[in-house]
Amino acid sequence: MKIQFKLSCLVLFGVLLFLMPLQVTAADDKAAITYRVRVMKGIGANMHSIGDILKGKVDHKELIVHYAKALNETSKTVTTIFKQDTSKSKKNSRSKNAIWEKWGDFEKESNAFVKASTNMVKAAETGDMANIGPAMKKLGETCGDCHKPFREKKKKK
Ligand code: HEC
Repeated sequence: MKIQFKLSCLVLFGVLLFLMPLQVTAADDKAAITYRVRVMKGIGANMHSIGDILKGKVDHKELIVHYAKALNETSKTVTTIFKQDTSKSKKNSRSKNAIWEKWGDFEKESNAFVKASTNMVKAAETGDMANIGPAMKKLGETCGDCHKPFREKKKKK
């Protein structure tokens, strides 16, 4: 029994040692940036899907509500995914240091985004274009309201 206990302790210790580096990489700046940009691209994809329908490029007006809901759910994650200060890692990131220097302002923009996308869901649920158009316009403005102060301009290649 005693030997077995010691053995299982050793195994447990070994497992913990193995897991420790994983925890360190989870907070890695590079991973945080890749993840965050991918989430943003998902938001962009949902916006474009709604845009294509509104412009009449494709049909599927009844699907607007689904993209709006997806976007609304993702919008609620923005504050969390930007919490990690990656100001020292500029590679592959257009995040401005202002995000962490003026975190309160960033949170404000993020909350405005959640509010606008919640309104967009409500508008989409009515199925009435007279509601959807203006809600979409307001939602689109919140992207720019945050990108302007908090995202670097695209570098010319
Ligand atoms: C609260 C702030 C905030 C809001 C709101 C916001 N974004 Fe972003 N977004 C950012 C930041 C900051 C980055 C840069 C991330 C990086 O590169 O580290 C970014 C990056 C992106 C990217 C990644 C690709 C690129 O060119 O950098 C896309 C696409 C994008 N946003 C689309 C949108 C759309 C569409 C909306 C609105 C529906 C939106 N965002 C709302 C802050 C925001």
